[in-house]
Amino acid sequence: MSANAATRKKLYIKTYGCQMNSYDTKRMEDILRPLGYDAAQDAVNADMVILNTCHIREKATDKVFSDLGRIRLLKTAKEKQGGQMVVAVAGCVAQAEGDVILSRARYVDMVFGPQTYYQLPEMVAKITGAYGAERIINTDFPIEEKFDHLPQENQVTGPAAFLSIQEGCDKFCTFCVVPYTRGAEYSRAASDILAEAARLIAGGARDITLLGQNVNAYHGRGSDGSVWSLARLLQELQNMDGIERLRYTTSHPCDVTDDLIAAHRDLPKVMPYLHLPVQSGSDKILKAMNRKHTAQSYFDTIDKFRTARPDIALSSDFIIGFPGETDDDFAQTYQMVEQIGFAAAYSFKYSARPGTPAANMQNLVREDVKDQRLQSLQSLIQKQSESFNQSFVNSQVSVLIDDFNAPEMRLHGRTPHNQSVHINLKPSDNVAGNISPTLPSAISPLPQRLVGQTLPVRTTSAGVMALHGSLVVA
Ligand code: SAH
Ligand code: SF4
Ligand code: F3S
Repeated sequence: MSANAATRKKLYIKTYGCQMNSYDTKRMEDILRPLGYDAAQDAVNADMVILNTCHIREKATDKVFSDLGRIRLLKTAKEKQGGQMVVAVAGCVAQAEGDVILSRARYVDMVFGPQTYYQLPEMVAKITGAYGAERIINTDFPIEEKFDHLPQENQVTGPAAFLSIQEGCDKFCTFCVVPYTRGAEYSRAASDILAEAARLIAGGARDITLLGQNVNAYHGRGSDGSVWSLARLLQELQNMDGIERLRYTTSHPCDVTDDLIAAHRDLPKVMPYLHLPVQSGSDKILKAMNRKHTAQSYFDTIDKFRTARPDIALSSDFIIGFPGETDDDFAQTYQMVEQIGFAAAYSFKYSARPGTPAANMQNLVREDVKDQRLQSLQSLIQKQSESFNQSFVNSQVSVLIDDFNAPEMRLHGRTPHNQSVHINLKPSDNVAGNISPTLPSAISPLPQRLVGQTLPVRTTSAGVMALHGSLVVA
């Protein structure tokens, strides 16, 4: 039974890291809503604060500890007024360093990993029942149980939604903490995924991104009892009414199969966008990273995708300054980016992570050299993103609207190629369809109704991060 309005409590969840964490945050909100907690945008005076953390690089982990310091002040202030604030650390830092957090931060009440938050109702009952006297650490790995116990209803979504289909990783790249924080690879059964997709559609989702640390290694039990690949799952989702766009992330080059490439050719709802991290263009570094593929095999895979879907927008991740990376190794990465041409790409300075094999490697790259290389690669990538976006200026793109900013009278949405589009509404825009040709100058409820619709937009300008345009009025 839901708590009534008078007893509703304030919940603040801060999400760090990847989309898997964003998905988990939404599910935590779904679990806590029936217990009386409503999600809010800030931690001031909150009854519960959850930091859903990321362990991927040192910076991400440091941020958690500095944020915890601020939360502590808020908790103390609330307690001085006789109130309570339950503070929890969730996610990948909790999984990796749960006991350190509990001993370093006495004001943290709960620590739980990415696979145990489904037990929140019991944990919350225990903590609130003995506030200040109980502390909980819960970092097991029962992935199967997690998905079995997530709420089947109450999924609150916008037009674009994430759906986790696979978790964990068996690849053990030498730099990466994910196999340790998320555990072994696990694929959900297709019937569960399709049921969740139906709930998301009922909640208004039109653009669904399937998530997994290695999403294209998906091999779940199909509705017919056989093992389904990601491509087979996409085919099934393609047939669901209500879904307009399908995406998936993050893929590993070694798990790209011919049927997945064919899906980009044959399934109209599969969007022309692919995030395929490569990390480096040097075979020597790829080997030291245990990526199990070469630069050439990556080029070949990209060629196949481009043959199947010539307009596909490509994105990737790069690690700069991995131990042993020479000027020549970096030059090979730079040339790879030049040769392929990315619509977007993310590059990070290598960060040694405790417990990973690379943390013990010699031949560390000097920080200033890493900085120089990063800057040079990022400026190349920025140029490529800008010219990709500019190639759409003065054309018509189809934009799924996901937000309306009333004070600025601006809509936001995304193109099939996953570009962000800002649309300034003009008084002459026929946003009410055939009802009224003019937009009231006061805040109008009409543009809000456009959220969730796919509309034609004329692009007028473009930068590195986004396109700008106006609605095409019939
Ligand atoms: N599963 C995905 C990526 C997971 S982590 C894959 O296989 O590609 C997201 C990105 O963070 C990685 O692609 C990598 O570029 C970066 N990353 C991971 N560990 C890192 C480290 N120790 N230092 C710097 N960047 C790292
Ligand atoms: Fe990490 Fe490699 Fe697994 Fe990606 S494939 S999550 S980089 S270990
Ligand atoms: Fe970070 Fe964990 Fe995702 S370490 S990148 S939140 S899987």
